[in-house]
Amino acid sequence: MKRQQRKAMVSEAFEKRFGRAPTLWAQAPGRVDLMGNHTDYNEGYVLTMAIDRNTWLAVLPRDDRKIVIFSLNFEGGGEFDLNDIRHDESFPWTNYVRGVAAAFQDEGFRLHGFDGLIHSTIPFGSGLSSSAALEVVTATALKNLAANWEIDPVRFVRLCQRAENEFVGMNCGVLDQYSSTFGEAGHSLLLDCRNLTHRTASMPEDLLVVICDTRIERELTGSEYGERRAQCEEGVRRMAGFYPGITHLRDLTLEQFIEQEALLPEVVARRCRFIIEENQRVLDLARALSADERTAIRALTEGSYAGARDLYEIVSPATEHMMKAVLSGPGVVGARQAGAGFGGCTVAFVERDEVEAFTDHVGRLYFSTTKIEPEVYPVQAAPGAGLMRL
Ligand code: GLA
Repeated sequence: MKRQQRKAMVSEAFEKRFGRAPTLWAQAPGRVDLMGNHTDYNEGYVLTMAIDRNTWLAVLPRDDRKIVIFSLNFEGGGEFDLNDIRHDESFPWTNYVRGVAAAFQDEGFRLHGFDGLIHSTIPFGSGLSSSAALEVVTATALKNLAANWEIDPVRFVRLCQRAENEFVGMNCGVLDQYSSTFGEAGHSLLLDCRNLTHRTASMPEDLLVVICDTRIERELTGSEYGERRAQCEEGVRRMAGFYPGITHLRDLTLEQFIEQEALLPEVVARRCRFIIEENQRVLDLARALSADERTAIRALTEGSYAGARDLYEIVSPATEHMMKAVLSGPGVVGARQAGAGFGGCTVAFVERDEVEAFTDHVGRLYFSTTKIEPEVYPVQAAPGAGLMRL
């Protein structure tokens, strides 16, 4: 849908619900990780890209301290008072909005009530950070409504993450909120999750990033994500016996790890090895993409996928079918599991001229084996969250 059409649709729905037109429009993008599964909470690296699928929030300020929030994507909505922010069991998606308001308010930021309507083009539960985009767009609107917040963007990211960790109860790392805030048009970001800094990275002109969505929804508040985190932490605790002072897997080289690997419980060793190798692959892929070294791009993405499947064990059967379809597609240079895993998307690097043939092929083959209609589409690197002048 074109931007103007989308605006007209959201405006009309807004006026129908609230009786007046919105005066402020904010957007926050989704993201895809080009390399770096589960490295963020290990204080490692991620090559990440904000994408041109985003969440909009149309807003009209209110005179009282209420937030009234509805969505064109989700059922229900509701109203809450900023003096008494509670969880909502009936429409859990509103907890991302409530959680952001609570996180910023607890830190002393003044909040302003508003009527708001959400519209998102980020598929929900696909591993493209629809949750983080909802948090970041809410915080962007609140920040601009108050007009007088002075906030460092990294603190802004951290508070959005806190909303998800503490209010929603999903113990995610910082990747999603960071990408949605700091994204840049035309570039991916090489993010250092320890220092919370990034540099922009480039890609060959004739390659496109293609999302191949299995349409199998993941449920991240389930136990698997927390279990993986705990196994990495256990690895660090045990390794600290040999290497005093280490606090995260980021601190270990592969050589150091290999020397003591046999002393770890087998599963813990596999999880840690994956993270340590994946961290190195992030740095290597950033280099390979900017130098257009296709053999290296292929080898690194293969390594990431194999590790996600065999060592970190986050690959679902649907993703295996998807990878078969993707890797036999025309113009594909490399592909891997994206996001947290357990369904969701794979991400492929595909020659621009072949993208149409590639999406056709993947759509047909994946459907013929799974009977599920996938979503396969190229994405562009998009700017991070902000206000929109429409
Ligand atoms: C989810 C989390 C992120 C990150 C990824 C896996 O998207 O929200 O913090 O851990 O999984 O890389």
